[in-house]
Amino acid sequence: MRKTKASQAHRIWGGRFEHAPDAPTRAINESLSIDKRLWREDLQGSLAYARELAHSKVLSEGQARNIEKGLNQIGEEIEDGVFPFDAALEDIHMNIEARLCALIGEDGERLHIGRSRNDQVATDLRLWQQSAADTLDKDIAALQQALVAQADKTIDWIMPGFTHLQSAQPITFAHHCLAYHAMLARDRARLSDARVRSAESPLGAGALAGSALPIDRHRLARSLGLRHAMENSLDAVSARDFVLEFLAATAILATHLSRLAEDIVLWASTPFAFVRLSFDTSTGSSLMPQKQNPDGAELARAKAARLCGNLVTLLGVVKALPLAYAKDLQEDKAALFDSFDQARLALHALAATVAGLQPDRDRMHEVAAQGFPEATDLADRLVFEHGMPFRSAHAVAGEIVRKAESCGCTTLREIPLEEAQKIFPPLSQKLLDSLTLEHALHRRNAFGASAPERVREQVARLKKNALPSKE
Ligand code: ARG
Repeated sequence: MRKTKASQAHRIWGGRFEHAPDAPTRAINESLSIDKRLWREDLQGSLAYARELAHSKVLSEGQARNIEKGLNQIGEEIEDGVFPFDAALEDIHMNIEARLCALIGEDGERLHIGRSRNDQVATDLRLWQQSAADTLDKDIAALQQALVAQADKTIDWIMPGFTHLQSAQPITFAHHCLAYHAMLARDRARLSDARVRSAESPLGAGALAGSALPIDRHRLARSLGLRHAMENSLDAVSARDFVLEFLAATAILATHLSRLAEDIVLWASTPFAFVRLSFDTSTGSSLMPQKQNPDGAELARAKAARLCGNLVTLLGVVKALPLAYAKDLQEDKAALFDSFDQARLALHALAATVAGLQPDRDRMHEVAAQGFPEATDLADRLVFEHGMPFRSAHAVAGEIVRKAESCGCTTLREIPLEEAQKIFPPLSQKLLDSLTLEHALHRRNAFGASAPERVREQVARLKKNALPSKE
C-alpha cells in the first residue's frame, strides 16, 4: 500500500487526494470510538466474504487462507487487548483492513474487491442486532421470572386496583405483577419479529450498484446465518428500518419498564407503604438518615425518555435521506448501542428490584378497603339477585355510597340497614354483610380476571413457560 505523510485513512482511499482532510473534518468523520464494538461482526463478515471470493474463484484458495489466518490473528489481538487501534483510520472496518495488510501484505489488499464499507457496515450491524436481540430476550425473561416469583407468593394478597389512581376494585399483588409479565411478553415478540426482518444480507451489494464479481450472494448470506441476500443493492446499503424497528421495540419496552418503575416508586413511597425495598436495591440520603430511596427504579423510569429520544434521532436521520448511502447513516450506531445498553441496565436494575420487593399484605389490604371498592359488587348483586338493569343498579349503589359517606361509614357493610332500605327497600342485611373485598375478588374469575383461582393457573403455566390456552 502506498504511503503518504497524510492521515492513515488517507492511505486507504487517498489516491486522488493531494493531502489528507483537515482536523475538524477528520474529527467529525471518525467513528472508531463507537463502531469498535462491531469488531467481531466485521471479522465474521470478512471471513465469509473471503471464503465466497475463493468459492467463486476470484481469489485463490491460498490467498483466501492467508486472509483467514490474518483475520483470525486480528481477532486474537483484539481479544488480548493488543490490537493497535488508530482513530486516524476512521472506523473499525479500515482499522481491521489496515492491520490485515500489515500482517499478510498484498493478499490483505485483495479482500476488498467488489466490497464497500457501505455493504460491510450494514452487514455488520445486522449481525450485531441478531445477538443483541437474543441478549435482550434473555434479560427480559429474567425480569419476567422475578415477576412470576413475586406473583407466586402473593396470589391472594389483596391490594387496591386503581383507575385514575383512585381506588377502583380490589385486585391482588400477583395479578398486578402479571400485568407486567404480559407487557414484557409482547416486547419479546416485537424484538423477535424485528430480528427476523433484520436477518437479510446486504453483503455483495458493493457501494450501491451491486457486484460485478461472479459471487453467489445467497450462499454468502447463508454462511453468515442470514436468511437470504437483499434483492436491491441500493436498498441493501441504505436501509436502516431494521435499526429503527429495534429502536422502536426497545423504546416501547422502556416505556413499559418506566410504568413498572413508577408503580414500584409509588408502592415504596411513605404514604403508600405497600412494599419495602431490599437494601440491595435501594440507596440512602447523604443528609436524611432515615431515607431508603428507590434510585434504581427511578433511573429505569427515566431511561424511557432516552430510548424514545434515540428512536426519534434515527427517524430524523433517515427522513428525506436520498438514496443510496450517505454518511448521515453513520449516526445510527450511537443511538442503537445506547438503546441496547440502557435497556439492559434498566432491565437488570428492575429484575433485582422486583426480586427484592417485600410486599406488606396487611397494609395493602387496609388501603384496598378504603374508598368503597365494593360498590361495583353491590351494583352487580342488585342486577343478579333483584333483576335490576345495570344502569339503575349503578344509580342505587351510588346513592348507598353517598349515604355511607354521610353516615361516616368506611365500608358499605357498616351502613345501617334502615338507611340503606330508604334507598332500596328490598335490600337485605345478608347482602350488605357479604360485600367483602374477598368476595369481590373471588367473584371475578373469568379468563384473565383477578380471582386467585385464575391467577394460580396462570402462575403454574408461566412457571412451565407455556402459552395461554385459547379454548
Ligand atoms: N463508518 C461508516 C458508517 O458507519 C462506514 C461506511 C463508510 N462509507 C463511506 N462511503 N464512507 O456508516
